[in-house]
This record gives sequence, C-alpha cells and structure tokens, in this order.
Amino acid sequence: MKPDSKHFYQLSYEERLEKLKQQTGLSLDQVDLLKSHFDETGAVLIENYLTNYQLPEGIVPNLRVNGKNYWLPLVTEEPSVIAAASHGAKLLSADNGIEAQAGQRLVEGQVIVQTTAFTQLDQLIRQQQISILAVADQSHPSLKKYGGGAKKVVCRQLDESLSSVEIQVAVGEAMGANIVNTMAEAVANWLEQHKYQVVMSILSNAGTYQMVTVTGQVAVTKLAKKGLSGSQVANKIATASHIAQIDSKRAVTHNKGIMNGIDALVMALGNDWRAVESAIHLAAVVDNQYRGLSQWQVQGDKLVGTMTIPLPLGMVGGATKVLPLARINRQIANVTTVNEAMQVGAALGLAQNLAALVALVTEGIQRGHMSLQVKSLALANGATPAEIPVILTKIGSQQPDATEIKMIITAIRNSKGE
Ligand code: MEV
Repeated sequence: MKPDSKHFYQLSYEERLEKLKQQTGLSLDQVDLLKSHFDETGAVLIENYLTNYQLPEGIVPNLRVNGKNYWLPLVTEEPSVIAAASHGAKLLSADNGIEAQAGQRLVEGQVIVQTTAFTQLDQLIRQQQISILAVADQSHPSLKKYGGGAKKVVCRQLDESLSSVEIQVAVGEAMGANIVNTMAEAVANWLEQHKYQVVMSILSNAGTYQMVTVTGQVAVTKLAKKGLSGSQVANKIATASHIAQIDSKRAVTHNKGIMNGIDALVMALGNDWRAVESAIHLAAVVDNQYRGLSQWQVQGDKLVGTMTIPLPLGMVGGATKVLPLARINRQIANVTTVNEAMQVGAALGLAQNLAALVALVTEGIQRGHMSLQVKSLALANGATPAEIPVILTKIGSQQPDATEIKMIITAIRNSKGE
C-alpha cells in the first residue's frame, strides 16, 4: 500500500512526519524538534503518535500534611504556581501542618436503564443484590484477592422513563475506571437477561465516595503584609472566601487557584486530571450554585481554612506505572497509598488557595509574580533562556509589555554586536 492510501495511524513514524510537513508547511527544524521528543512508550500509548509534549516540572518543598513533610513534583506551564504553593505550604506548616482525612473509597459505575417501571426495577435490584454483586465480581475476579470487589448496588430514578442502576466498588489502589467499566457492563448484561433495556453502562466520575477533607491554619500575625496588620489580612481573606460562596463568577476563579496545584500534582503522578477536574467541579455545586471549594474563617488568633473535595486518583494501573517520569515523581512525592495521595493533593490545593488569597487581598497578584511573568513574556517574545538574567537586570522594577520587552531584547543583542 502506498503511503497516500494509508490512514495516518498506518504510516511509519517517518511517513507521518513527512505527511504532516506537506499538510502544514512545518519547516525541517520544526520537524526535527518534534522528532527530538520521540518516545517509545508514548508511541505505543496513543494512536497517531507524533511526539512527547513537554511541560516544566518543579518541586514544592516541605508541604506538611498530618505531621509529615512532602516534597511534591508539580507539572505546570504557569510561572507563579510553584512559588505560590511553596508560600502557602510555609504559611500552613506549623505543628502537624495541614490535617487531612480521606474516607472509605468506593468507585461507582452506572447502568442506565430505559423503563417506566421504576418500582419493579428497584425491587429486583434489592432482592437480587447478592447475585448482582456476584455477577460484577465474577467479571473481575482478581479484585477480591486484594480485599476489593463490588460492595453495593442501588437504583435511582432519573425521570419517568430512565433509571440508573449504580454499583459501588472497592477498587484497592487503582483509579478504577477499567475495573468499574467491566463490572458495569457485566451488570448491564445481567439486566438485559432480565429483559431490561440498557441505554449504556459506564463509570461515574462524580467521585461521590472518594472524598477528602483538609483543614489548615495559620497564626493571624504571620499574615501582616504591605502596611496591613495580620488581622486585617485575615479578615479580608475571610471576606474573599465569603465572596466565593455567594458569587459563582468569583468562585470559578477561586477554584481555579486551587486546581493550579491539584492538577499539576495529578499530572506529575501520571493520573487522569480530567477525571479530577470533573469530579471537583461537581462538588463545587451546592444548593444549585457553583461555590468556592474552600472556606476561610478567623477563629481567635488563627485564620482557619477547610475544604472537602473528591479526589479520584490511582496508584496502580493507567499511566502511573507506564510513564517513567510518573514513577520517579511518585518516589519524590513519597506517597504510598491512594488515600495518602488524596490527602496530600487536597492539602496542596488548600495551600495554593491561601497563597493566592493573601496576594489578592494585599499587593495584588501581578506584583508578587512579576519577575516570573516577565521571564515568560520575554521567552514568548523571542528571548533565549540565556538572555533572561540580563533582561531581568535591565528592567529592574518596571513592568514592561510585549513591545517594550522586544525593544529590550534588541538593545541587549545590539550591545553585544549581534
Ligand atoms: C491564577 O492562576 C489563580 C488566581 O486567579 C486564583 C484566585 O484568584 O484565587 C490567582
């Protein structure tokens, strides 16, 4: 078969690059850059593989959670995330640090059934609970060996013609998507054998039974900044927290700050950050309103923050063991169980949130992170990494825009005779 008559996935790696070059007008240098990030693991992991897309990874040292200090690898392209997380971690590091608790973990699968006879279906599920759990377990027998397995099945009416049969599964250290999908499909077959019409069966990403609660506190005196007393800053943070409860527009931004940390850790650990995002944003909706995930209050001489979120993670399966960097990152993070990863992830989100709020209610977000943002602006406007220190010295305390930074780069190059 000639390359032209093949699907993209059927082409060899070289043929793919050639095809892409013709299609898009990429230069040889650009193609070489794609090639230079070729990775054998990536090439078997996904279809139509092209390259490994890289993001910067850095460390947040000493996030203290339940009395243990963690060094956390974060993968992010946003300049201020690691600085903010480190600042938040420091503020919340007194005594045992952030207290975190994750409950019993169950992952749910849904079988959506088309029926107008909900009561009948509900009765069947209640009466046949043991058989249904056995059907689910037989579809994934190895899970029982590790103390896991299908634990409960319930039925919920969605509307007059649709119901959801929900199976709750203890998935051990796995994230559980494959296990639960297999089990949900087995239950779907069972329901079809009982003459029910199944629309679909799939894991639910709601994370209803994968919740973790974190509480962090900081002495109000430690928050004094920019001419504001610690108590003024603490009270402003409590107000900021209240605003995120009453205004969804602000809540989204408040939560984005929390996700800055959580997503970056979840990516570093090779986990599914889309699942984490979906679950967490559902949890942000309380009484039909999207709200801030965390809440901060002044209690005596302390500012205290709490947050309860679902964190659907896995320590085995998926890409966790396949991606070499995810394996190394897990060793750096020094987390051994999913529960521990959930606790640390949520704690990181709370620390990230505190640092953002401190900046917002004092000097504003731009000022504190200016030098970090300037670096990224300079790179985006053609500076080389080697030129960055010179550029920073040149601009001092100014906050240049793209045009000004281009002029600075040109001036530096001219002065070197380039
Ligand atoms: C920026 O990435 C995150 C913040 O906007 C979060 C917040 O406003 O709380 C600073």
